Order: sequence, then C-alpha cells, then structure tokens
Amino acid sequence: MRPRKPSFAADYILDTVVSLRDSAPTLNQAEQQWAHDVLVEYFGVVEKRGAIAEAAEIFTAVRPQLAVAGSKTPSVPATRAKAQSLPSFDELVSLLQYRKSTRWFKQTTVPRELLAKAINAAALAPTACNRQAYYYWVFDDPTLTQELAKLPMGVSGFGHNIPVLIAVVGRYRAYSHVRDRHLIYIDASLSIMAFVQALETLGLASCTINWPEIPEREKRARDAIPMESDERIIMFIAVGYPDDTGLVPHSPKQPEAVFGRFNLES
Ligand SMILES: Cc1cc2nc3c(=O)[nH]c(=O)nc-3n(C[C@H](O)[C@H](O)[C@H](O)COP(=O)(O)O)c2cc1C
Repeated sequence: MRPRKPSFAADYILDTVVSLRDSAPTLNQAEQQWAHDVLVEYFGVVEKRGAIAEAAEIFTAVRPQLAVAGSKTPSVPATRAKAQSLPSFDELVSLLQYRKSTRWFKQTTVPRELLAKAINAAALAPTACNRQAYYYWVFDDPTLTQELAKLPMGVSGFGHNIPVLIAVVGRYRAYSHVRDRHLIYIDASLSIMAFVQALETLGLASCTINWPEIPEREKRARDAIPMESDERIIMFIAVGYPDDTGLVPHSPKQPEAVFGRFNLES
C-alpha cells in the first residue's frame, strides 16, 4: 500500500496467525515459507497494539516450527519482474483466433505430460485472494471417459470420441461468505481460458462443456466422481488431438458488441 499505514490488517491478523498455528504441519514448505516471510515483514512494520500485539505473540511461538530456507529471496511483495520474451500482441491474437471449440478428436493417447503442462499454465490465472479454489480432475481411461461423457448434456453426437475428459471442480470451502459464492466459477473460468489456450500451443484442442444445474445430474456426477461435499463441477472440458477431417462450426465474434463503452457515453 502506498503510503503504507502504520497499522493494518487488525481485523483479520489474529484469525490468520491462529489458522497458521493450527494448520502449519499440514502446509507444504513453500506455503510455510510464504507465511513466515510475509508475517515477519508484517510484524516488522506494524504498530503492535491490541489484536496485532496478541497475534504477534502467537506468531513468535509458531515461527520456530515453520520450515524455512534461510538463503531464499523472501516471499514478500517485490517490484514486477522485467518482461522477457513475451509474445507480441499480434502473436497473442493469432493464438486467440486459432483456438476453436473442437469436437472431433483423433483416437490417439494424449500424453499426461502435455496435460500437466497445460494445467500448470492454467494455474497461473488470477483468483480471488489468490485462493485457487478449483482443481482439474483428468479422466483419460477410455472406459471411464466414455461413461463420464454421458453426464453433461452438451456432448450428444460427439461424446463417444472424446479421448480425455476433464472435470474442473470448484471448492466452496475456500470462500466462507455467501456474498462470495460465485467466486469458484469466476476463478475456475479464468483458469480454463488459460488452459484451453495452452493446449493449442501444445498441438491439442478442446471443447468446454456446460455443467447444468440439474439435481438429478448432480447426483449422478457425485455417484460417478467421488467429490467432497463442498465441491462442485464448474465445467467439463473435452481434450484431444484435433481430427481435422471433422468440421468446426463457423462461430463469428462481435468485437463491437463486446467492446462496450467508455465512461458515461451512450
Ligand atoms: C460455459 C460454456 C459452456 C459450453 N458448453 C458447451 C456444450 O455443452 N457443448 C458444446 O458442444 N459446446 C459447448 N461450449 C462451446 C461453445 O459452443 C463455443 O465456445 C461457442 O460456440 C463459440 O465457439 P468457439 O469456442 O469455437 O469460439 C461451451 C462454451 C462455454 C464457454
């Protein structure tokens, strides 16, 4: 924050350090390092009064238990990295134009390494409070994929030829307020956009598939995919090598309609 206030985060710092104290052993090293570095920085700059003083005491007790690599650059706010070998605007637009929802796939195995690469790229998308409240559940077993492809409605006619079906699953537990109930959809969707673009750069193609809000379908999905009770499918994605003998619909875009307005102009 510029200028930095002498005191901030008083409303939630106590919850934060209590949560860290209670969950530290379950966190991986990078998470522990991040929690450590941010809180060291935080308590180093704020005035320690009231809840902040109480939180500081708890953090002092928890700190020695955190797995920290001393030599590492601290995981704290820093200036933006300098751009290196970014695609040009034209290159980006050509990728965006190249991607088409593809429904016909070669019956060729999709290497898991490629899927992992695309998922890792998708994980770079922004999420509310960086909570990353979704994950990609990949089905590449042919029998299972065929079975699961019957769950969503929008695959009639091409469901049988989908080599890989991905369920993107959102976790409601990441957002405790009712006011934030849509965030899992927004988070996951931003990531899905990165995912489908990444697939294209790897020679793969995809079709995002609607997951409708129908209780009977929801039950069938839960019977087939053992999700936690707070988890919900956001979308399915069909993935595979495109079969170029299959047609792709003509799906013109309307940039002028999307472009919208500036300020209060009509
Ligand atoms: C949220 C969402 C749900 C979709 N659901 C389906 C679906 O169930 N079946 C399908 O064949 N295509 C589905 N699509 C793909 C759209 O039909 C496609 O994106 C649209 O026609 C534009 O074509 P394009 O992706 O090639 O630009 C879906 C796309 C989105 C974004």
